[in-house]
Amino acid sequence: GAADKGGWSSFMAKEISEQPDAIGNTLRGRLVDGHVDIPELTELGEPRLREVDRIIIIACGTASYAGMIGAYAIEQWARVPVQVELSHEFRYRDPVLTDRTMVISVSQSGETMDTLMAVKYAIERGVTTVSVCNTQSATIPRESDAAVYTHAGPEVAVASTKAFVAQITALYLIGLHLGRVRGTLAADAEAEAVRQFETLPEKMAEAVATHEQIAQLAHWMADTRSVLFLGRHVGYPAALEGALKLKEIAYIHAEGFAAGELKHGPIALIDHGQPVFVLVPSPRTSPLMHAKVVSNIQEIRARGARVIAIVEKGDTAVLPYTDDVVRLPLSDALFDPILQVVPLQWFALELSTAKGLDVDQPRNLAKSVTVE
Ligand code: G6P
Repeated sequence: GAADKGGWSSFMAKEISEQPDAIGNTLRGRLVDGHVDIPELTELGEPRLREVDRIIIIACGTASYAGMIGAYAIEQWARVPVQVELSHEFRYRDPVLTDRTMVISVSQSGETMDTLMAVKYAIERGVTTVSVCNTQSATIPRESDAAVYTHAGPEVAVASTKAFVAQITALYLIGLHLGRVRGTLAADAEAEAVRQFETLPEKMAEAVATHEQIAQLAHWMADTRSVLFLGRHVGYPAALEGALKLKEIAYIHAEGFAAGELKHGPIALIDHGQPVFVLVPSPRTSPLMHAKVVSNIQEIRARGARVIAIVEKGDTAVLPYTDDVVRLPLSDALFDPILQVVPLQWFALELSTAKGLDVDQPRNLAKSVTVE
């Protein structure tokens, strides 16, 4: 009933607003004296963690985009090649797996059949399996060698929101733990990541507060038929997630693209009035990528696109080329997508609402798909 929604109009709205706590609770007890410590990984034995020479992240849907974002951080901190694969593709191509491979599955429910079958396949091949899961004692974490739980709390809305940011958080913690154990994580990088995590729940609350601005934007755009999302580096999977949200609950055709790929095809889609959300990297922490994305914005604007830029507060370079600007708190390049996805979640929710749809129960979808 309405009471369970805590005064919000939908579970999804409530869950978007709970994201500062979803992150805070996932971090709890795992930042110890300026280090990341995950006892569930320690139990696997340090030699095993040191010997891992390849990580494959498997997941479906939103969880796979969390996996794509996590892959950047794990490679950077633990210096292990990481590949992300959809669970249902992984198992049918005879992947190269050895006893030094680690498979990390990501699943909110821990019951997604495609992912469970992929995990079972990995276990049969003798690889180390780690489950990132939001549901205590679900099948996937029980089957896996180690379970690193996200503590986002129960997620009711079919479209995943708070579980997504908690999954990224857990994957980053795994990357930091592995980096420390393997000796690949520089002390200053570790200190900076811990600092970023400590301030993240607060910044997340600021990102949640973009709701009103986004609601207004969605109101103006209620009859939009197609929306594009552009991002670069970790902003790319966040753009894919923004597009997925819109497809799932607003039934609007949406595509996410890597900003650099624009000129290799998608720019042909740009026509007068085409709405494009652009996730703009920070000019402070990523000046080169920032300049590239600003030039992408100029190119699409010149072709008539309506540009909605998600920027770091104080970024004025984009202003001459944008129709709308959503400002987010200053953060670190790897942490940006965690904040950037929030206005995209609100946008999907508000467009769905504007179309009179059931935000929490979209047609044809289930919260957890327990068939292959
Ligand atoms: C379903 C849901 C998606 C979700 C995906 C993976 O398709 O509709 O929102 O991202 O399953 O779910 P999982 O529980 O494995 O994270």
